[in-house]
Amino acid sequence: MNVTSLLINGVPRSCDAAPERTLLSVLRDDLGLTGTKYGCGEGQCGACTVLVDGVPVRSCQTPCGTVGPQKVTTVEGLEHAGTLHALQQALIEVDAFQCAYCASGMIMTGVALLAKNPQPTEPEIVRFMDGNICRCGTYPRIIAAITLTASRLAGKGGSR
Ligand code: FES
Ligand code: FES
Repeated sequence: MNVTSLLINGVPRSCDAAPERTLLSVLRDDLGLTGTKYGCGEGQCGACTVLVDGVPVRSCQTPCGTVGPQKVTTVEGLEHAGTLHALQQALIEVDAFQCAYCASGMIMTGVALLAKNPQPTEPEIVRFMDGNICRCGTYPRIIAAITLTASRLAGKGGSR
């Protein structure tokens, strides 16, 4: 049976997708949510990372038929009323990316990390982000942005 609805960024979205199609394909090709990137297509790079009920998953390896009523969050869902997520803002401020092809996946994994562990140490950041590959090698700045975000969130006592 085809998948006819997915809960994306808090909104039920209609679709008509064979259940074995990847979540990545449905997001990009059917729903126009092209912020999520196709990198390796083999579960190795993390460019396609989205959150499913808050857990980072490789959307290139996730059949859309397995998602069901779970909440899918893509990079498009992080901004609220014109305000970026604190991590997005920090990444801009530290000028973290070069080509930025990895950015969406990095952001989603980083957001999941901060939700789970609001004050991660550098080794914890490295461990959690380990599956996300940046071909431009901007890892030090990505780590700096996550650390900056954590310190700001601590000041606010919140998760955004
Ligand atoms: S595109 Fe999904 S892990 Fe590389
Ligand atoms: S900034 Fe180019 S792949 Fe990360």
